[in-house]
Amino acid sequence: MKKIIFSLFVALSSVSAVQAADANAGKEKSGACSACHGPSGVSASPMFPNLAGQNDAYIIKQLKDFKSGARTDAMMAPMAANLSDEDMADLAAHFSSLPNVNEQAAAASSDTSADAAPTSAAPAAGTVEIVSSTPAAAIYKGNVAAGKSKTMVCATCHGADGNSLIPMYPSLAGQSANYLAKQLADFKSGNRKDPVMAGMVAGLTQEDMHDLAAFFAVQTTKAGTGESNEAGHKLYLGGDAAKGITACIACHGVTGKGMKQAGFPSITGQSQDYLKKQLASFRDGSRGNDNNGIMRNIAIKLSDADIEAVSQYITSLK
Ligand code: HEC
Ligand code: HEC
Ligand code: HEC
Repeated sequence: MKKIIFSLFVALSSVSAVQAADANAGKEKSGACSACHGPSGVSASPMFPNLAGQNDAYIIKQLKDFKSGARTDAMMAPMAANLSDEDMADLAAHFSSLPNVNEQAAAASSDTSADAAPTSAAPAAGTVEIVSSTPAAAIYKGNVAAGKSKTMVCATCHGADGNSLIPMYPSLAGQSANYLAKQLADFKSGNRKDPVMAGMVAGLTQEDMHDLAAFFAVQTTKAGTGESNEAGHKLYLGGDAAKGITACIACHGVTGKGMKQAGFPSITGQSQDYLKKQLASFRDGSRGNDNNGIMRNIAIKLSDADIEAVSQYITSLK
């Protein structure tokens, strides 16, 4: 009996909410959400909840709470801040109408890609845990000392301690080990294309890559020394609701240090030249190694002026 009343209540509440909202409009507005919650409402990363098939009244309540601050989350607060009540109702109608994760998995049982699982943090002195971004989500240990002995060839371009002195070469110091290992594997597989790096990684084993990633991850990042930029600052912190650009802060953090567990890279201490090249490459698709198109979906909406401004701002992050 209790069960019947409960399901009746759920059915009624979802019917009334659907009537007030437009799932198609919600679909249009969900572009910025798909970066984290997945284009079909099923997230590729264990950091982000699935929304597909969720009760719409629940979704609306969560979005209101993120907006009011009653529920706090650094990523969702800037997302919800720009949403009107109508936006929230439309988005809820859209996500609740999608088949849930089990239904989607059953429909496409060949396409169940699980992303990296979060690990317990704290890279110790000796080894660094590296979660592979492959479906197996295996955890490796990279050995810092072994990595150091393999960096001779890298130092010419990336600096002995991973702080590059030449603008076209990125700094690696203090970067997330997961991210570094993924980039090396991507250069090797051709998933990320660069003629110089392709040559560098060709002879590396998976163990070499994990050791190198472990070494560079525990080096100290140099703070940015560039000048700030007002328009870039605004875009970085708030995104651009009108253009559907997610705020960079949501994933790269207040000081640009990223989120190691999620594989979101640090972008602090990089040269403006390097930052501009990467944003332009994500925009034109020539860099396409970001899982789920997470950066391409954002970069495609950036104008040249946006790229100039935001990359200038990033060089000022400490
Ligand atoms: C940068 C990543 C990111 C983006 C983009 C994003 N979210 Fe989220 N979302 C999260 C995270 C992380 C959580 C979990 C927050 C927590 O731990 O409390 C979350 C939680 C939620 C929840 C609560 C789910 C639950 O089960 O409690 C809803 C609803 C939601 N997001 C909707 C949206 C909508 C709608 C958009 C687009 C307008 C969006 N999100 C964009 C990261 C993101
Ligand atoms: C001859 C110069 C050169 C050498 C030597 C070199 N690299 Fe690179 N590396 C580059 C360039 C250029 C890029 C940027 C490619 C691009 O624009 O996408 C890069 C990018 C990278 C990246 C991606 C960084 C990011 O922020 O995404 C990693 C990781 C990396 N290199 C590691 C290494 C390692 C490890 C070695 C030594 C085994 C090495 N590199 C040797 C020139 C070099
Ligand atoms: C939803 C999360 C998310 C948001 C929001 C986001 N990024 Fe990213 N960004 C990523 C991920 C993930 C990668 C790494 C992709 C990969 O695996 O190569 C990345 C990579 C980058 C890189 C390349 C780093 C390197 O070392 O090569 C730059 C630069 C960058 N982002 C800048 C930005 C800027 C500027 C914004 C805001 C306009 C932004 N990002 C918003 C997730 C995000």
